[in-house]
Amino acid sequence: MKEYKDYQLKANNTFGIPAKCDSFIEYAGCEELKVLYDRKVFDGQWMSVGCGANLLFCGDYHGVIIHSVARNVEVVEENDRDLLVRVEAGCVLDDFIAYAVSMDWGGVENLSAIPCSIGAAPVQNVGAYGVEAKDVVESVLVFDTRDGSICSFTNEECAFGYRNSMFKSNPQYVVLSVNFRLSKASSRQLRLDYGNLRSALPAPISPEDKDALRVIRETVCRIRHEKLPDPAVIGSAGSFFKNPVVDRSVVDRLLSEYPKMPFYEMGTGCKVPAGWLIEQAGWKGRNLGPAGVYEKQALVLVNLGGATGDDVWRLAQSIVNSVKEKFGVEISPEVIKIPS
Ligand code: EPU
Repeated sequence: MKEYKDYQLKANNTFGIPAKCDSFIEYAGCEELKVLYDRKVFDGQWMSVGCGANLLFCGDYHGVIIHSVARNVEVVEENDRDLLVRVEAGCVLDDFIAYAVSMDWGGVENLSAIPCSIGAAPVQNVGAYGVEAKDVVESVLVFDTRDGSICSFTNEECAFGYRNSMFKSNPQYVVLSVNFRLSKASSRQLRLDYGNLRSALPAPISPEDKDALRVIRETVCRIRHEKLPDPAVIGSAGSFFKNPVVDRSVVDRLLSEYPKMPFYEMGTGCKVPAGWLIEQAGWKGRNLGPAGVYEKQALVLVNLGGATGDDVWRLAQSIVNSVKEKFGVEISPEVIKIPS
């Protein structure tokens, strides 16, 4: 275990925003969390941070940040059709995906290049190109900071929703590891029907193709690279807002004025792309000081250099207000503001 006092978080959030925390603790697994529990760390102000890809620091964090460096990947069950792989929370999601693809284990390839730790993947129910964590997570092992116990939640108990899970409203649980159910070639289904994924493939592929997973991974990485900024170069947190889910009557009202508006049926309501709303409201490529709206994808806010969390938040509020004014639709951040 390593502990750093008065720690600078600029490299621990993908926006690249400077902020400090009182203490930053790297821990290697459950035993070390127990030590922190005995030290009563969880009685005070604390939070768990993985890659910091969904956080906006609008000031220093007066508390302890814990960060998992446990990165083990282990096959716990295997048969002819599929396998169960346990991955520890500190592993970077994309490193695991690269490994899974190299082993020809299917299921996570569409999630390639999402900046995220394994620990955060079920909390956020991360998703891209027609796949969400909920489609591959079999169970999640957690440490309960209230009593130092360990428990496991099934997929159903995780109550996954769009960029949501029960972990969001139960921050007492720290994810230790995630069990993923992945497929072997004999039972493989490829998911290629989201947006332009199928047409972006270099050639048609089928589940039997030996390099199908690699081709999907490379295509997803290429599409993301074309549309989304690389956090190592331009600070951002991916999509800043969630796509709003509205009643069909709202979509009908909007379609009468904007017949080309894209939307997707979703249960009883409809999902409208926030990126489209923001672009139509005139924000794409615009900036307020050092905080900007990415010129290739309006859902992404960027740090143009030297932005503070407050700069980004001010821009976000202006966007929320103008979308509300123009369309009567409320969009809300996917990114978590700290302090809230
Ligand atoms: N659109 C615009 N203008 C824009 C951006 C988008 O008109 O500036 C329109 C597109 O033309 C398209 C629609 O909006 O019709 C959807 O766009 P896109 O396929 O790029 O996806 P998204 O809804 O903007 C979501 C996820 C992304 C994920 C992609 C691909 C959310 C909040 N975002 O974005 O996830 O990579 O789908 O699956 O659901 C993230 O969560 O950080 C993230 C990047």
